[in-house]
Amino acid sequence: MSTPPVVRPGEALCRLEDLSDPPSKAFMLQFDDGEEIEIFVVRDGETAFAYVNQCPHQLLPLNWKDDVFLTLDKTRILCVMHGATFRINTGEVLSGPMPGDCALMKVPVTVSNGEIRLAPRNRD
Ligand code: FES
Repeated sequence: MSTPPVVRPGEALCRLEDLSDPPSKAFMLQFDDGEEIEIFVVRDGETAFAYVNQCPHQLLPLNWKDDVFLTLDKTRILCVMHGATFRINTGEVLSGPMPGDCALMKVPVTVSNGEIRLAPRNRD
């Protein structure tokens, strides 16, 4: 897979219309101390949600193909490793091999005038 574009807290990720086919896209979030973590953003109608690209089952990346994070019908986030699925707007697990109370780690974003932007601070 290719390396996702690097973004920093507070920066714009992309526009809603950039998320059509697939309706999701990966980024490498880089903090001031140089630490990096891969995230992805998913469009849900006129809004978007972002998560750390790490499945709570075995802490592996969810995708095998660039920017593809959803089921074929595009209604759920999918981990291709063991087939877990997650709700797009909350990240909560819907099916899969782990207990039902776990979820993807959410990354705060805002959507304004079609632009998806990271919150200024994404961690303490
Ligand atoms: S690593 Fe995601 S379902 Fe197992």
